[in-house]
Amino acid sequence: MGQSANTDQLVHTDQLAKKVILITGAARGQGAAEARQAAERGATVVVTDVLDDAGTAVAKEVGGQYHRLDVTSSGEWRSVMEDVVATHGRLDGLVNNAGIFRHDSILDGNEDNFRLITEINQYGVFNGMAAAAHIMKDQGAGSIVNISSVAGMRGQRAVAYVASKWAVRGMTKSAASQLARYNVRVNSVHPGAIETDMLFDLGTETIDRLVGATPMGRSAKPEEVGNVVMFLLSDESSYVTGAEIVVDGALIA
Ligand SMILES: NC(=O)c1ccc[n+]([C@@H]2O[C@H](COP(=O)([O-])OP(=O)(O)OC[C@H]3O[C@@H](n4cnc5c(N)ncnc54)[C@H](O)[C@@H]3O)[C@@H](O)[C@H]2O)c1
Repeated sequence: MGQSANTDQLVHTDQLAKKVILITGAARGQGAAEARQAAERGATVVVTDVLDDAGTAVAKEVGGQYHRLDVTSSGEWRSVMEDVVATHGRLDGLVNNAGIFRHDSILDGNEDNFRLITEINQYGVFNGMAAAAHIMKDQGAGSIVNISSVAGMRGQRAVAYVASKWAVRGMTKSAASQLARYNVRVNSVHPGAIETDMLFDLGTETIDRLVGATPMGRSAKPEEVGNVVMFLLSDESSYVTGAEIVVDGALIA
């Protein structure tokens, strides 16, 4: 996957001290990396996923709580948020990271696949923003980071995935406009080829093709996306809202 970056030597700070941050899909991959990075920066982390064993292990590692949260369920969102506010009294950051990828083509007309991906990748993000918005509005502060993809910025062959990731990008800007007056920021992040199960599941041939098309000549570690997410969660990005940040080694440049 090309020469990898050395992310281990980056200095960790108290960038997120006193912040309570909830991350979806945090049992593995980018979400788990972000849970570790946020904890290293002083945040109290709420780890959520549908993979209970892996999620519980990550929460234990970062000294945080685990909650089962299927992002498609508005009921589960409500009960998790009630618990977070009851326990911590606030919610400073939300990373809508959970997502799935499936190959599909418009020629298949696979409605079930389209609905499933829309439910998780699009409706899941909507649910998360809706659940967090009132808490953050009442606090007069908050940061929501929505994980889209380079697939949210161009066409690719997986039509449902592309549609869902464009939707995330659009919803982000809409929510940012609506919540800005309450000092609640909403931004989207657009990863390229990131070394997680989602990428590995594509198989060597596809990964080689993707990395070959990436001008930087390599895929990225999850932490390289995480560093951008940490910035957006922190007060260092206090005037950044409605923005989209591509983290792709110039893949779509
Ligand atoms: N890996 C990449 O190359 C890449 C590129 C662009 C965008 N992304 C996006 O990054 C995000 C994180 O993906 P990843 O790379 O870590 O992949 P991953 O497959 O390792 O992790 C995804 C996580 O989401 C969870 N999840 C799936 N359905 C869920 C649901 N209904 N409710 C709650 N959690 C659910 C999974 O259990 C898993 O822990 C996704 O939104 C993905 O679309 C990934």
